[in-house]
Amino acid sequence: MSAKKILITGGAGFIGSHVVRLFVNKYPDYEIVNLDKLTYAGNLENLRDIENKVNYRFIKGDIVDASAMLKLFADEQFDGVIHLAAESHVDRSLENPNEFVMTNIIGTVNLLQAALKTWNNDSSKRFYHISTDEVYGSVEDGSLFTEHTPIDPQSPYSSSKAGSDHFVKAFHNSYKLPVLISRCSNNYGANHFPEKLIPLMINNILENKPLPVYGKGENVRDWLYVEDHASAIDAIFHKGKTGEVYNIGGNNEWKNIDLVNFLCSLMDKKLERPEGTSAKLITYVKDRPGHDLRYAIDSSKLQNDLGWSPSLVFEVGLEKTVDWYLNNKEWLSNVTSGQYKDYYTQMYSKR
Ligand code: NAD
Ligand code: TYD
Repeated sequence: MSAKKILITGGAGFIGSHVVRLFVNKYPDYEIVNLDKLTYAGNLENLRDIENKVNYRFIKGDIVDASAMLKLFADEQFDGVIHLAAESHVDRSLENPNEFVMTNIIGTVNLLQAALKTWNNDSSKRFYHISTDEVYGSVEDGSLFTEHTPIDPQSPYSSSKAGSDHFVKAFHNSYKLPVLISRCSNNYGANHFPEKLIPLMINNILENKPLPVYGKGENVRDWLYVEDHASAIDAIFHKGKTGEVYNIGGNNEWKNIDLVNFLCSLMDKKLERPEGTSAKLITYVKDRPGHDLRYAIDSSKLQNDLGWSPSLVFEVGLEKTVDWYLNNKEWLSNVTSGQYKDYYTQMYSKR
């Protein structure tokens, strides 16, 4: 394996931290540069175990700063980019869409421009954009999103991700920038910020707080263990064909209410208390506006062309996740204090 210098953006966040760890450990000859603004969602505690490795470096920076990105690319001469930095939470995008436009669209275009201006048409480079299945909108029962499903985003978050996907494609079509895009389903696992469904429920069960289920809890999501997403990113970065889109998913659909009930009974077991204790906290709350009913992804292109498959069944992955949160209560209390705490208090006082 020849030496490579790779920029990973958003590496202090949930998925990014798993991608950084995988690349730092698996490719000792690579130089991994993690660029992150450290928003409320970015946390260097997620990378404590690898922060002193010789092939790893952290840079605090904002992808919205175009001239800083251009200078970074000119100074560092990266061989590849894996771009995960984003505002990622749908509920926040409903409150403040502008921040999503800035980071997800403008930030992505700044990175594309920096790559274009410093890579001199070198087709061996790779600009890999991490996207989401949410750009496809909602899918009816019995159908799956394929890479050919028309883009039809419904939330400010997914609209901003769809916008960035279009720019990435446009830089390939217009300037032959060697790009890759993947669109993954909902992830779960360690380091997941407790504003998203699974870690929020775990945190609230631990704090004996209500478990807010939106609407009737009938929305369906297709859950993938975060380390399986990281291994798919590894496969696509190294073996994917530039200009292509790859869907990533776990064939693991759950109705929200079934998932929350399953999680409640797992938590009761772990906390050694009577079955049904956590489920008593379930509270149906006002639905999220424009709430997509179902996401379900066909990842056969990735499985057939690149030989990737998910490694963990959901029951095992969820238990590993719960164990991680139970063993990392300090992490939970650190990330739920400060800036996030205010947001959290505000969100719940509105319901
Ligand atoms: P996250 O919110 O946990 O992490 C995002 C990271 O980006 C944070 O570390 C944050 O500090 C950083 N960041 C935000 N704005 C920045 C800026 N302007 N400049 C530099 N860094 C900035 O998100 P995540 O869940 O890890 O998602 C990572 C990527 O994967 C996103 O692009 C998201 O759209 C995509 N994705 C997420 C999921 C999921 O289930 N979480 C599924 C599919 C795709
Ligand atoms: P979320 O984790 O926010 O991911 P996304 O909206 O990107 O799919 O939400 C997953 C599902 O859980 C979604 O249908 C909304 C629902 N949900 C709740 O019912 N209650 C909650 O408190 C949260 C955060 C989400």
